[in-house]
Amino acid sequence: MEIVNGFSKLSKRQKIDWLATQLPAGHQSDISNVDQYWHDNKDQQKVFDEFSENTISNFYFPYGLCPNIQINNKNYTVPMVIEESSVVAAAANSAKFWLTRGGFKAKVINTTKKGQVHFNWSGKKSRLFNFFSVIKPELHCAVANIVENMEKRGGGIKDIVLVDKTESLDNYYQLDVMFDTCDAMGANFINSVLEELGTCLSRLAMEHDSFSDAEKEIEVIMCILSNYTPECLVRVHVECPIEDLGEFPGNMSALEFAKRFERAVTIAKIDVSRAVTHNKGIFNGIDALILATGNDFRVIEACGHAYAARDGQYRGLSSCSIKNNKFRFELNIPLAIGTVGGLTNLHPLAKATLEILGNPNAQELMKIVGTIGLAQNFGALRSLVTTGIQQGHMKMHLLNILNQLNATDEQIIFLKDYFKTKTVSYAAVREMLNQNHMIQ
Ligand code: MEV
Repeated sequence: MEIVNGFSKLSKRQKIDWLATQLPAGHQSDISNVDQYWHDNKDQQKVFDEFSENTISNFYFPYGLCPNIQINNKNYTVPMVIEESSVVAAAANSAKFWLTRGGFKAKVINTTKKGQVHFNWSGKKSRLFNFFSVIKPELHCAVANIVENMEKRGGGIKDIVLVDKTESLDNYYQLDVMFDTCDAMGANFINSVLEELGTCLSRLAMEHDSFSDAEKEIEVIMCILSNYTPECLVRVHVECPIEDLGEFPGNMSALEFAKRFERAVTIAKIDVSRAVTHNKGIFNGIDALILATGNDFRVIEACGHAYAARDGQYRGLSSCSIKNNKFRFELNIPLAIGTVGGLTNLHPLAKATLEILGNPNAQELMKIVGTIGLAQNFGALRSLVTTGIQQGHMKMHLLNILNQLNATDEQIIFLKDYFKTKTVSYAAVREMLNQNHMIQ
């Protein structure tokens, strides 16, 4: 590819045309035709274009629904944006399974978020702490106008703490600032407050009479929210007497299932190779809903994985217990999300998602997101410890294979029926398609 200057100034069409000139002949039309995915409505397309920079088209993902999710006795239909076949089906199966066994129970444990001013200071530690205790009220005053609206909504700054990090890094300190951002995810709000606090901190040090010239030098390195929010936590669980679990494929009894399931969860607690896959299954559900709401899924992933490793070893996020003849399956997960601001009201489908969910506030959305994660995890583990994952997964993947192999509608109907009782694989489907005699 050639180096290009002024790319962002080109129109969408010019960007596409430039890109086409960079590709080998024969591949150019795929690029030239990306305009076929533009929205018919120009105003709507403009909204999509302006979410990001250098946009040339839209990238479609399926938007599906998981019905019958019951949380704290309230029923939800949960939108999911995901390309992987069988994820929505697995969540929907779990939802149905738990619907007749008391449903999901969810509770928000806390909603505190944190931001940090990272800075250098080379004086005597105790003098910095004294200075901080003097200026702390002034720090609050300095951001009063930024936090005013958030305070009116019941949120704002919960606390500001000076943290000594000099044991890990010479002269390194932090202001840790705790926030409640109500129904907003709050990243922009938090960062604006932090930048103001950083400026104010440096200024107050300069003005501090009892500091020597050297002590007046607070060097702010950066001001940014932390996406590690272990205190912005939701707890979700399902629970029932073991015998209510019913019977499983291969005449597996409820007790045998419960024990195998509990074992699978424990394996994810102690083995990192399994833990990552286990948690990936949880995020299959969580990311799908986070995307559907227009929230930032990278935040949720990064934080969730750090939380999974909070004691020094990466572990499965869910827990299972069998006690007093009761089966309990639980997920604790940090979720810094919002139902106002960001894309939540700008993206038409994010808006639709919130409407489908009954326009929840941030705490209710945390409960729904945690639940879809646990439902997904339950569905995956149920398959893994009974039939194996491939039976269900490949059944759902069959249509992708048929489409990839350009099967006709007639062949699709025939082969979907044929593979009801057979093992699906790419080779087996291709073999069947090659045997034209299967179609009457
Ligand atoms: C596949 O997307 C997710 C699973 O691998 C999760 C798991 O193994 O628990 C099925």
